[in-house]
Amino acid sequence: MPFRLVYTAGTHGYAEPCGCSTMQTGGLARRATILAELTGPRILLDAGGILPPAEHLAYALRKSQTLAYYAAAGYDVASLAADDAAQVEAAAELARSVPLVCLGRESLGAIPVPDYRLVRPQGADRPVLAVFGYGVTSSALSAEALARRLDTQIPAARSQAADAIVVLADATVAGELPDLGAELRVGDLVLAYGGASVTLLSGVEVVGVPRDFGDRVGVIAATPVTRAGGSSTLRWSPPQIIALGAEVAGDEATRDLLVRTADAVVPTLPKPAVLARPAGMAGSPACAGCHASAFATWSASKHATAFTPLVEKGKSTRPDCVPCHTIGFSRSPVLGYVAENVQCETCHGLGADHVSSGGKTLTVLREPRALCGGCHDKAESPEFYFPTYWRTIEHGREAPKAADVP
Ligand code: HEC
Ligand code: HEC
Ligand code: HEC
Ligand code: HEC
Repeated sequence: MPFRLVYTAGTHGYAEPCGCSTMQTGGLARRATILAELTGPRILLDAGGILPPAEHLAYALRKSQTLAYYAAAGYDVASLAADDAAQVEAAAELARSVPLVCLGRESLGAIPVPDYRLVRPQGADRPVLAVFGYGVTSSALSAEALARRLDTQIPAARSQAADAIVVLADATVAGELPDLGAELRVGDLVLAYGGASVTLLSGVEVVGVPRDFGDRVGVIAATPVTRAGGSSTLRWSPPQIIALGAEVAGDEATRDLLVRTADAVVPTLPKPAVLARPAGMAGSPACAGCHASAFATWSASKHATAFTPLVEKGKSTRPDCVPCHTIGFSRSPVLGYVAENVQCETCHGLGADHVSSGGKTLTVLREPRALCGGCHDKAESPEFYFPTYWRTIEHGREAPKAADVP
């Protein structure tokens, strides 16, 4: 029976696009919409990179949303990449609701995760795939030992009526996967998380799945074929990649789930505090007298009201939202910011000395263009290009107003 292999990866806890840009892609509600449209017999896999980075400001929130989504999404198999496996507690929680596989499971301690699982698409009368997770090594298990283990397990998996072996390999650990099982043969398939697409000497297709695959869904059609000897195997189509752009409407039920999870978790997160203004800070209004035109340009720009969209979206107390929409964000000793909005001194540095000297002390930063990317990064501002963005907020060419200079 022909079926589709549907695969995801690289979620990194990125549950919802934050709204920073209409171009922004990804998010679990959009993924749910696409998965619901892919009807018919299928097997749903995740190749890893599921959990958020442990050091993320809103780790607790993103982890909870991710776990809630994966528990509800109906994955047939998911593999843990090294980053996930390092988060032992969260990985254990994931293991309770998602069928995980991990060949190097020694590194997962007490989490009961098998080397492989047998799966079948709906309507098939027997398992058609044996899906392995591969690549999470530990000091106790070298890459060679892992490859040997794969080779000994493959015949056992094949004998359980599986037509093909699928390996969810973490290439971020195993590099170019040089030791990948010698027992693999034509008809088997490797999804290489963080690796490149190649064809192995044995004729096995390796499909590269980039680490930032969270904004896409992959689909490979599988067609059963009978070998010369009478045994059956599968022929795989080239992957079709579906982008989760703004044109994909988010699934309502999934969005509700994410919102409900956030409502439960956000009150437990540290609320950003409003920090004392440092002595060296003058504040944007203090610049207006001498740099009237720069001040007028800034006042009319979205930087001057950058905090407003957070208030409108009810996200103004979220520790993962305030850093780029405020001035003076700091994590320690307490998490907080000095004032709302992106201000003159966000880009030019502290200006109190400059102001009190009547502009004679040039303590201010003159060419802060290198700072833009700290906020206008790939996720929040994918269209950012300095020359076009700068044109919108261009200022500072005029001479400071002499009359105001003492
Ligand atoms: C890494 C920095 C950064 C973080 C963190 C961040 N933002 Fe933004 N945000 C930006 C930038 C930069 C823009 C402007 C993007 C552009 O126009 O290219 C923006 C724009 C927005 C906009 C669009 C405003 C408008 O005028 O249309 C909204 C809404 C928004 N952000 C909400 C959020 C929320 C909610 C969060 C937290 C989940 C968040 N942002 C976290 C940098 C950030
Ligand atoms: C009392 C008037 C005055 C105030 C207030 C003032 N400046 Fe200036 N600023 C000047 C003068 C005069 C210069 C030019 C100094 C020079 O070129 O020697 C200058 C230069 C600058 C420059 C470098 C521009 C250049 O041509 O070299 C920047 C950037 C700047 N100011 C930013 C600010 C910011 C930000 C604030 C508010 C925190 C501010 N200024 C407040 C008078 C002022
Ligand atoms: C501290 C974070 C931060 C830095 C640094 C930053 N931006 Fe922004 N920028 C934002 C945010 C947040 C928004 C969105 C505000 C909104 O839509 O309400 C934004 C919006 C903009 C916009 C849209 C403005 C408009 O009025 O339409 C432009 C253009 C822009 N930034 C250019 C730049 C450039 C150029 C730099 C570097 C010189 C820069 N930004 C540095 C956070 C930042
Ligand atoms: C988003 C970042 C950003 C903000 C906010 C910002 N500036 Fe600037 N400013 C720049 C950049 C970038 C340049 C220099 C552009 C270049 O490299 O030619 C500049 C240039 C200037 C200059 C001329 C510097 C020179 O050497 O010619 C002055 C004066 C100035 N800004 C004042 C201000 C004042 C006053 C405010 C607030 C009312 C302000 N800026 C807000 C980014 C910013």
